[in-house]
Amino acid sequence: MNTYQQLPGPPQLPLVGNAHQIRPQRMHQILEHWANRYGPLYRIKAGHIPMAILSDAPTIHQIFSTRPHRFRRLAKFQSIVTDLGVPGLFVAEGDDWVQQRPIFAGALNAVNPSAFNLKMAVSLGRLRDKWEQAATSGEVVDAYRDLQLLVADLASQLALGVDANAFASGAELPHLLDLVTAKLVQRLYVPVPYWRFFRLPSDRTMDNALAKYRHQVYALVHEVRRRLEAAPVSSPSCYLEALITRERVGECDEHSHRAIFNHIGGVLMESWNTLPNAMAWTLYYLTRYPTLATQMRAEVDAALGTTKDMSGYTAVERCPFLCAFVDEVTRLKPSITFSSVEPLEDTVILGHSIPKGTVIMVLHRYPAIQNENFADGGNFDPTRWLPDATHRRCPHETAAFLRFGVAPRNCPGEGHAMQQIRALLALFCRNFDSQFAVPASQIVEQQELTMRPAALPLHLRRRISSPQAT
Ligand code: HEM
Repeated sequence: MNTYQQLPGPPQLPLVGNAHQIRPQRMHQILEHWANRYGPLYRIKAGHIPMAILSDAPTIHQIFSTRPHRFRRLAKFQSIVTDLGVPGLFVAEGDDWVQQRPIFAGALNAVNPSAFNLKMAVSLGRLRDKWEQAATSGEVVDAYRDLQLLVADLASQLALGVDANAFASGAELPHLLDLVTAKLVQRLYVPVPYWRFFRLPSDRTMDNALAKYRHQVYALVHEVRRRLEAAPVSSPSCYLEALITRERVGECDEHSHRAIFNHIGGVLMESWNTLPNAMAWTLYYLTRYPTLATQMRAEVDAALGTTKDMSGYTAVERCPFLCAFVDEVTRLKPSITFSSVEPLEDTVILGHSIPKGTVIMVLHRYPAIQNENFADGGNFDPTRWLPDATHRRCPHETAAFLRFGVAPRNCPGEGHAMQQIRALLALFCRNFDSQFAVPASQIVEQQELTMRPAALPLHLRRRISSPQAT
């Protein structure tokens, strides 16, 4: 048995360790680069904090499947999110997680899909209108920001059944999500939790915006409770209705309001920090490979016919090429490129003893881009995912594909996420042709809380080749 100290790793400096080599916005790429050099388990030090970096898929499965009892998520992340005031399921641990997970996942699955599709169609229509105007005027669109606004609309509809009207100037929800996310990222890199002792002006701005939103959500919870008491529904139209209908999350008091707010915050924050990234990367590849866009468009046209009803866009779930395209995009550009866990007891990983509490950074993307797991793993090739086996190339190791994590703490929003990404893709290829407004080489990966394109400025043209485009 080897010790943690015997793990390979990049040379460290006194006091700073490897901190001087890690640029936060490129952290995922640096860790992946070191995995190439030092292997499936290596060590680094961020200041005085020792860390182990793991990229071996079978070992990741072993570790992740023993959560929350043998490994927990990063304690620092939990305390920051709790201090911010939105401690959702993602940071719940132990028995608290055991109790919360079925409530969260059960309510999410109970939302009536038809009701949500109608609302999704309204938000997609807003985006289409905005981009049609830009296409007519020749204005460059900030596609990443527009996708964030779309996701704010969709997440608010899914979580609360409320139209956030995020495309309107001065809309509050995108502003709030920007503030909370920026604070979260900033506090992750601050060594001392200063906010427990004093508030900076930016902390107070966030506190006030969050308090205002909390007040609105509490009022809504109260109203929906009263409405459902008077007229129960069998098929909830949003997550809040599903929570109140399905689960006894407590009586109508401050405690239960807070529990519901935390669940709602989970839907909003997880959506905001993942979906715009995945959507933006799909548009990036569609723009980069126009012939694939043509192929997808033919498939989508065949599936949707002449319908103008965007709530029918879920029919694209049956488009194999479109689904394969999304799978391939999320293999090469997953929103979550790494995550962190800590062992709750001393443990052994790949023959090395790892002390309790050591931060273990788990690389989610790395295994999925290795040739040993996916043939020609670094190359974009959607056909590898087609159900028709003639396209299948070996190896094709789906256990190394960790975009939504590993049970029991895998992503409960996967179904909703995929539905929204596919619908956006159908809307885009049905209505627009696109070109990058900057050289493609400038559209680079940027690690924030999750991994996004640094920017995605696009020139759009309205599609003119098909009279049935809607
Ligand atoms: C492209 C979109 C998304 C991606 C790539 C994604 C990915 C992930 C990943 C990798 C995890 C960690 C899994 C693990 O530790 O094994 C996770 C957890 C989670 N996701 Fe997602 N997610 C997405 C969208 C969503 C949406 C839309 C929601 C809510 C509606 C959501 C809610 C959650 C929650 C609550 C957790 C924590 C689960 C737990 O700890 O039990 N996610 N997600």
